[in-house]
Amino acid sequence: MNHDTIDTLLQKIDDSATSEGNPRTKAIVNRIVRDLFYTIEDLDITPDEFWTALNFLTETGQRGEFGLIAAGLGFEHFLDLRLDEAEQKAGLEGGTPRTIEGPLYVAGAPESPGHARIDDGNDPGQTLVMRGRVLGDDGKPLANALVEVWHANHLGNYSHFDKSQPAFHLRGSIRTDSQGGYSFRSVIPVGYSVPPGGKTEQLLDRLGRHGHRPAHIHFFVSSPGYRKLTTQINIEGDPYLWDDFAFATREGLVPELKKAEGAEGERYGVAGNFALIDFDFTLSRERDDMPTTEVIRARAVA
Ligand code: DHB
Ligand code: FE
Repeated sequence: MNHDTIDTLLQKIDDSATSEGNPRTKAIVNRIVRDLFYTIEDLDITPDEFWTALNFLTETGQRGEFGLIAAGLGFEHFLDLRLDEAEQKAGLEGGTPRTIEGPLYVAGAPESPGHARIDDGNDPGQTLVMRGRVLGDDGKPLANALVEVWHANHLGNYSHFDKSQPAFHLRGSIRTDSQGGYSFRSVIPVGYSVPPGGKTEQLLDRLGRHGHRPAHIHFFVSSPGYRKLTTQINIEGDPYLWDDFAFATREGLVPELKKAEGAEGERYGVAGNFALIDFDFTLSRERDDMPTTEVIRARAVA
């Protein structure tokens, strides 16, 4: 089709706008409509394909799967890379790398001082203790920082979304002690896979891609005056470690998984063998010359 004809229609749509409305919304929607018109034109999209896609999006929304698609198509990782770039440009370096939040956080997990056990004792996964400190970018420990943690069970499922698990199972909020220390006892998670039979899986199948994530543990780490850190650590040795469908594995976020036993477990109430991860989080001081890392997003609350 003649590009002038397309541009005339786009102009007509734009001209139909009044002075009402939100300028930012207008700019964004106009840009997306233009890009989609040209996608339809350049790829010669048929009406059948268009309405199939519209129906796909409708069903994706009905099943609450847009958060998964945002991760699987790389949008969430792309937003991380853009934040990294903004920080780099402003001269901010170092600190624990960020990586995606994913769609499975639940607000309201119980808060514990220093240490928490977050599994209920019924999950058959191997016992894990993870511990470390929260540090500022000057290397000094941050007391009273908040470490929010959440992860999947031995089947790769998250409590709240998986109703077979108790409320807040494998989720917790830990306040660092006076030395900046935190620790938690849990079980080693298994990698997550997109829901079988869902819209994300259907799309990934058509793209010739899988929907698996390597085993991982999520964190929000926050302390007043510091940039909130959203990140994950991965479990070493997972077959999908560097083949994550959400592109979230990053250098610096794959700590050694150590074997521990005996007296070392006593202060965490663990008897026998267990897996141990030592990991410090380093936060950067808040600055007003770069975008905030406190992201507004609809989240589950329990
Ligand atoms: C998805 C699931 C996760 O557990 C995660 O960490 C990121 C993304 C998802 O379903 O897209
Ligand atoms: Fe996850």
